[in-house]
Formats: sequence, C-alpha cells, structure tokens
Amino acid sequence: MYKALIDRLEADSFLTADEYLTLIENYKQISAYAAQRAVETKKKYYGNKVFVRGLIEFSNYCRNNCYYCGIRAGNKNIERYRLTPDEIVSCADSGYELGFRTFVLQGGEDTHYTDDDFCRVIGEIKKRHPDCAVTLSLGERSTESLKRLKDAGADRYLLRHETANREHYRKLHPDSMSFDNRLRCIDDLKRFGYQVGVGFMVGSPYQTDRDLANEFAFLRKVNPQMVGIGPFITHKDTPFSDFESGSAEKTLLMLSLIRLTLPRVLLPATTALGTLDIKGREKGILAGANVLMPNLSPVSVRGKYMLYDNKICTGEEAAQCVECLKNRIKTTGHEIVTDRGDYKNEV
Ligand code: 5AD
Ligand code: FES
Repeated sequence: MYKALIDRLEADSFLTADEYLTLIENYKQISAYAAQRAVETKKKYYGNKVFVRGLIEFSNYCRNNCYYCGIRAGNKNIERYRLTPDEIVSCADSGYELGFRTFVLQGGEDTHYTDDDFCRVIGEIKKRHPDCAVTLSLGERSTESLKRLKDAGADRYLLRHETANREHYRKLHPDSMSFDNRLRCIDDLKRFGYQVGVGFMVGSPYQTDRDLANEFAFLRKVNPQMVGIGPFITHKDTPFSDFESGSAEKTLLMLSLIRLTLPRVLLPATTALGTLDIKGREKGILAGANVLMPNLSPVSVRGKYMLYDNKICTGEEAAQCVECLKNRIKTTGHEIVTDRGDYKNEV
C-alpha cells in the first residue's frame, strides 16, 4: 500500500496531505523504497552528478534570537567573528582554485555590513570569476536591499522558511520575528529573479508529523529551485537545550519525498545530516539529494559557526573537505562535478 503511494507520487509529483502523513508516520517501512524511486527521478534530470557549493560562513554575529540556533544574539557563551570583505573575496579565490563554481555567502543577520559592502563583495567575486554563481544566505532583508543585491550580480538566495505553519513558527522564534516578513522576503526574491531556496528542520521542537506533511503544499506553492532541510540538532546554549535532536532517518524520507514532489529541485545533503549520522551525507545522496556544501571558511573561524552541537568539518582545511567528500561520494556511485550546477528549467 505504501509502495502504491510512492508510485503515485512519482507519477503525479503530488499527494494529499493525509497521504504524505501516512508515509511520514511509517517512515521506517517506506524509506528504502522511497529512496530508490527518488534516486531514479533525480537521475532523469541530473544523472549521477552531485553539485558542490563552497560555503563561506563570513560572520557569526546575529541580531536575531531564534530559539534553536547556537549563534543567536542571546548566546553569550560564544566567541564572535566576522570576515572583512577582502577576506570573503579571498575565500572565494581559494575556492575557485579548488574547483568551486558556486559560492554561498552565509552569515548571521549581522548589521555591521552595509548593502554597499555586500554589493562590492558580490561585484568583486563576479568580476574575478565570471563563470561562477553567487548565492546569498543573509537572512531577512528589506525589499530594497534584496533588489540591490540582485542588481549587484547575486544569482541565488537561500532563506529557509523553517516551518510552513504560522503557529509553529511562533514557537521557534521570539515575537520580534514574523512569519509574514519571512514570506515577504521569499516573495521578493522570486519577483527579483533569484533562484530561490527555502527549507526547514526535521524534528524541530513542537513539530508534528502533520506539520511535515503540510510542508509539501507550501513547497508546491513556492516552487523553489532549491530546498535545504536537515535534522534539528540540540545546541546546549539555547532555550531548546532540553529538546532532543531530530531523526536522521526521518530526514532521509523527507529528502526522498521532496525529490519526488519537486523532481528537478537542487537538494543538499546537509552538514546537519552528516553531523547526526557519520554516513548521513552519503545516505542523503542515496535518498535523492544532489548537492553538497563543503565549508570554505578559514579554519581559524570554523569552530565558531556553531549553529548546533558537535558540528562536523570544523577542523579540516577546505581542500581536505573536498577530498573527503569526493571519496565519500564515490562510494555511492555518484560523481562530483564542478560546474555552476544551475536549476534545470522545463523546456
Ligand atoms: N539544528 C539544525 N539546524 C539548525 N539551523 C539553525 N539552528 C539549527 C539547529 N540547532 C539551521 C536553520 C537555518 C540554517 C542556516 O541552519 O534552519 O536556516
Ligand atoms: Fe540568527 Fe536565527 S539566531 S537567524
């Protein structure tokens, strides 16, 4: 019966919320078959290619106080850092030498940098490396700012919505943050022509299986080019320190269901998944993911970008991570490619 649901999802790219719920509630029985169908679907569009994105975590200052996040403003037990614009550009330069053709600039919502700063960094990276894509992951910004950054040359933007349930959103964030502003940003990003990534954590506090089932209608409505999901992982210095981490296995099923719902989506096997399970990223690729985002930040700051406890890859040089990932991916029968890896639009 579960198999028939997966087959229908593969054929139609959609199920009802109740049907998704049935699959999610029975993830242990269904995950292997779902993964197999998800990998077949991925292969139709992307073959056995896995795209890599060089992640530059340029600042761990953040004005927000998300209850789950280790770099929240209220965490006093953390050493803060920020890279200068020149340092960010030079991270991209060394990433280019390693073969990266996409750079993801990710940071907390650090008001130290102005729009001008970001525009200069984007312009400089695009000037030096015209064959590269620049992806931003800067959190919520004004409409005007998102427009300026696009005009400066940014190609893509990642902004996880964190949950499609407004009430659940309020349980994950203080009142100073709003679901509506999140949606406003996502809408702006689409209007301005960014390739857009949304996403959520699996197993975040107060999340129900019904919430997870409802994510698919949201994804279908937004129709993003990228979806970033990973398990929630407890961070000891947050208000959610007493909550248990999410399940890697349930995350894997969610990856497969996302692949089957949005067949062409660019879907990373995230660091969080690799943190919860040493083989998590390989399993993610074998569940339908097709993107990896190794870290290019200088090793001196790596350990400080701790969104959650025990984050992996904090001691390795970028080159070491690349080698490690290549070897890991080989074991899955996939191959890492170093082109921009754009979304395959329907023709
Ligand atoms: N566990 C897992 N993921 C987290 N993120 C933030 N804190 C955690 C955590 N404790 C995710 C959020 C954010 C992304 C950058 O990292 O979904 O959007
Ligand atoms: Fe920084 Fe949430 S604590 S965006």
